[in-house]
Amino acid sequence: MKTETIEVQGTGFNLQDYEEARRTFSWSDVEKVFSWYETGKVNMAYEAIDRHAEGERKDKVALYYSDAQRDEQYTFQEMKAKSNQAANILHKLGIKKGDRVFIFMPRSPELYFSLLGAIKLGAIVGPLFEAFMEGAVRDRLENSEAVAVVTTPELLPRVPSKDLPALKHILLVGDNLDLEQLNKEHPTVQLHDYHKEMADASTAFDIVWVDKEDPLILHYTSGSTGKPKGVLHVHYAMLQHYQTGKWVLDLKEDDVYWCTADPGWVTGTSYGIFAPWLNGATNVIRGGRFSPEDWYYTIEKYKVTVWYSAPTAFRMLMGAGEAVAERYDLSSLRHILSVGEPLNPEVIRWGLQVYKLRIHDTWWMTETGGMLICNYPCMEMRPGSMGKPFPGIEADIIDDEGNPLPPYQMGNLAIKVGWPSMMRKIWKNEEKYNEYFRLKGWYISGDSAYKDEDGYFWFQGRVDDVIMTAGERVGPFEVESKLVEHPAVAEAGVIGKPDPVRGEIIKAFISLRAGYEPSEELKEEIRQFVKTGLAAHAAPREIEFKDKLPKTRSGKIMRRVLKAWELGLPTGDLSTMED
Ligand code: WT7
Repeated sequence: MKTETIEVQGTGFNLQDYEEARRTFSWSDVEKVFSWYETGKVNMAYEAIDRHAEGERKDKVALYYSDAQRDEQYTFQEMKAKSNQAANILHKLGIKKGDRVFIFMPRSPELYFSLLGAIKLGAIVGPLFEAFMEGAVRDRLENSEAVAVVTTPELLPRVPSKDLPALKHILLVGDNLDLEQLNKEHPTVQLHDYHKEMADASTAFDIVWVDKEDPLILHYTSGSTGKPKGVLHVHYAMLQHYQTGKWVLDLKEDDVYWCTADPGWVTGTSYGIFAPWLNGATNVIRGGRFSPEDWYYTIEKYKVTVWYSAPTAFRMLMGAGEAVAERYDLSSLRHILSVGEPLNPEVIRWGLQVYKLRIHDTWWMTETGGMLICNYPCMEMRPGSMGKPFPGIEADIIDDEGNPLPPYQMGNLAIKVGWPSMMRKIWKNEEKYNEYFRLKGWYISGDSAYKDEDGYFWFQGRVDDVIMTAGERVGPFEVESKLVEHPAVAEAGVIGKPDPVRGEIIKAFISLRAGYEPSEELKEEIRQFVKTGLAAHAAPREIEFKDKLPKTRSGKIMRRVLKAWELGLPTGDLSTMED
């Protein structure tokens, strides 16, 4: 079988030889990096910030932050002081180890100070997307019994404090606050002025040392049914964040790293906070909304070297065209990565042409806490493949009884249990947690995939998204990838629509690129394009044009929403949907 491959670009990576590392690497090698190897105690915030602040990196820039109004930078030493002050505020409020502290605000330096401060205290942090409306906020604060929320005056009306008996404190990050008035609107909690409190808080703080298995962070994520689940991670996850930061992000001392994800989802914490700072890297945070110009400007402004983003963003940049990219100096870039959904080969080819770099796909989930299957700078890439398991990770394709399947057979993508950043709990839902581990010794991802004879993994879809049409099993991603190769197609979402004859037929929802108008001729042309380019049975029988497709904030096309629309069913929990 002929496979398109893309050669390794360059040399001098942190990981020189993937196969060698698979044979020799053990997670216990990484334990030696951190304090508890000697003391038996640990704290993520210490390892990410204080360790560097007390050493040679103390004056190195840890955080560059900018948005339309602000332009700031903080060294590791300053980050330590600011997060200590935030920890002192929370401490003064009586917040203690194990308490849930939620951070509900747009990206800003204060978000990072408070999040790190809460961790220094041993609290469990819960980051929330600023786009969440009241119902979504209520679900999460209620389920976790949060005692404190850090938010802004603008978002405060979406915190239904009266409905949340466990909630005691709200820390408001904003100017000229009328606390007395606001407190009248929130009589069951105490409101505090973040900036005032910070001004009085000491920059020294005695960090709360915790056990490596103590909880760190709670990320709510939605499944195909039911309320969002609180996925709990522990401090020990740092081993994974650190080592994947080294070998996959390939972080080195002089790198300027930019992860475009919001901390409201796991990429924005594991790889927007922990991995870069555990590695002592300079981290760029850019506030505000996406626009191709703004993103390229950000790369140029900071001379970003390592860039971690998502297929949806790369597709939008592709849609904006090469000319926009050419207006900016992107020559600092040396390594690009992607996560969140399948990375279409077309996008990789485009990246090669415009950025002159490979875009490295990485696969993982909120539940896995860190990267598991990746493309490494030192490894040949096969576009469309998620890559190979991280050293120390055992992945396989298994059937519903847990038997490993031979190459090219589609099945459950599963991981042998026991990697450092694996979730330890679904908050107050043991049954849900156990479902992931129903086949002894395996974590069942819910994704379907196959592996080729060389051990590369190929994503097919969520198990519940796989389409059976006239007896043929079709992965929606394959069809979507083909669709976006058509010049008129910006984005595509593909579902199986129940059909009395064929079981299911393939239906595609398509948003068009600028300059194209919907028409019956165009539908037919696109259909033929898939027919000839992929397979007749994979061509969508139905096509519907949409201005926008429903997507999560992390850029995943929400097929279940398309399906619900199609069937006229309720769409379920939409709290993670982009506005
Ligand atoms: C699901 C997890 C961990 C951050 C990403 C979002 C899909 C993720 C890939 C990829 C194909 C991918 C899977 C997975 N996904 N990365 N490289 N190729 N699909 O995390 O919101 O928990 O979603 O995202 O379906 O199960 P999440």
